[in-house]
Amino acid sequence: MRILVVGGKGTIGQAVVEKLHEHELIIAGRTSGDVQVDLTSVSSIEMMFKKVGYVDAIVNASGTAKIQLVEKMTPEDNLVAVQSKLLGQINLALIGQKYLHRGGSITLTTGIMKDDPIPGGASAAMANGGVSAFVKSAAIDFTQGIRINCVSPNVLIESYEKHKDSFKGFVPVPAERVAMAYVKSIEGKQTGQEYQVY
Ligand SMILES: NC(=O)c1ccc[n+]([C@@H]2O[C@H](COP(=O)([O-])OP(=O)(O)OC[C@H]3O[C@@H](n4cnc5c(N)ncnc54)[C@H](OP(=O)(O)O)[C@@H]3O)[C@@H](O)[C@H]2O)c1
Repeated sequence: MRILVVGGKGTIGQAVVEKLHEHELIIAGRTSGDVQVDLTSVSSIEMMFKKVGYVDAIVNASGTAKIQLVEKMTPEDNLVAVQSKLLGQINLALIGQKYLHRGGSITLTTGIMKDDPIPGGASAAMANGGVSAFVKSAAIDFTQGIRINCVSPNVLIESYEKHKDSFKGFVPVPAERVAMAYVKSIEGKQTGQEYQVY
């Protein structure tokens, strides 16, 4: 398979890439990888697909949000997650579907915060919930065998040191286990799923 992995040089992305080594991989990032893209820009996504061409699978393992307590959160703070995690991923799917071979797949990334709240996580949770709902609903619209799923990871062992103050009492999961959910989405047959790796 020819697979585009946006965020393929990141913590989750690298673990996913490792599991997909038998495939032809194209890694995308803002500055890293084989091709550059900024998911917060529609024209940047369009330009990336013009360069990359047709693929069998589109994976996203990127997205940012401002961690901020709601009582202090401004609309501008919230816009970070809207533009990146929410619209960035959905625009990747909307534009990318035209570059997918018949039977291809789209795999997006959400996260545990929407199901198990952490302080300051409301904006990320909003985006995660939006992506999850989009995936469930979009799956029934595709008529050319295209599948769409998302992976909702717990905090990773590999990221825990950086985030441990926010994730008190959480049991972090290995990146390798999270990566297997992406493999299930890409190489399996399911659609409309959210794989929760909690
Ligand atoms: N790590 C965790 O514990 C964890 C848990 C649950 C959910 N998540 C979610 O999973 C996603 C990936 O997390 P991660 O920890 O692997 O992140 P990471 O290590 O920071 O890596 C992010 C990757 O995405 C690329 N990227 C960032 N912004 C981008 C943009 N606007 N357009 C295109 N590419 C962009 C980066 O490449 P450049 O530097 O070249 O831009 C990098 O390769 C995030 O949405 C995160 O919230 C992570």
